Amino acid sequence: MGYGHVIIGITGASGAPYALRTIRLLAECGVQVHVAATTMGRRLLVEECGIKSLDAPTLVGDDGLAELVHIHRDSDMGACIASGSFQHDGMAIVPCSSNTLGHLAGGLTNSLVHRAAAVTLKERRRLVVGHRETPLSKIDIGNMATLSDAGAIITPLTPGFYLQPESIQDLVDFMAARIVDLLGVVHDLPVRWKGTLTHLGQHEC
Ligand SMILES: Cc1cc2nc3c(=O)[nH]c(=O)nc-3n(C[C@H](O)[C@H](O)[C@H](O)COP(=O)(O)O)c2cc1C
Repeated sequence: MGYGHVIIGITGASGAPYALRTIRLLAECGVQVHVAATTMGRRLLVEECGIKSLDAPTLVGDDGLAELVHIHRDSDMGACIASGSFQHDGMAIVPCSSNTLGHLAGGLTNSLVHRAAAVTLKERRRLVVGHRETPLSKIDIGNMATLSDAGAIITPLTPGFYLQPESIQDLVDFMAARIVDLLGVVHDLPVRWKGTLTHLGQHEC
């Protein structure tokens, strides 16, 4: 049995490959994925992934997953995901810019990504914020604290190295898997630390 619906917001921070992998992984798990991207989110899809057209086959390919991916225009404040009446299982903003972080912390919603996230919070649904910027200003840190207090999960896009990644794709997979974990969707990407420290005589889980 598949999961229900998840929303992915893409904004103009570096990390568009994380967005693509997260969307694909969710679709592979049978999730209906609703996608909205800010203007700068679309720009970063072009700059980092060469994606010029925001449509389902371009995002996940033509191998049957595209029918699970629903694209919404960021200017369409009348899209279903703008309403609290839309039943979904969570939203992730990946990558999340400091600009969008500030909008959300201030309760400002002048784009569909912002509105869908604000609604997710007010409806007490899961909101995962994959922020990316470095270094962080005190304003960013304060905005994260505000959003965390409001119920969001702040997950900086910082992949771990303990699985000894061999490629950029391994790092992207690590972070996408973490986001999908936080959305409560079960997947089978092999990204789990098993406690293997055989040289110290310890055991795998
Ligand atoms: C190539 C490029 C990379 C960027 N990377 C980041 C980033 O990592 N984090 C960030 O907060 N802003 C980044 N920005 C700036 C944002 O795109 C900018 O603040 C924009 O207003 C964000 O708008 P949005 O939140 O509506 O997507 C980047 C911009 C460009 C052109």
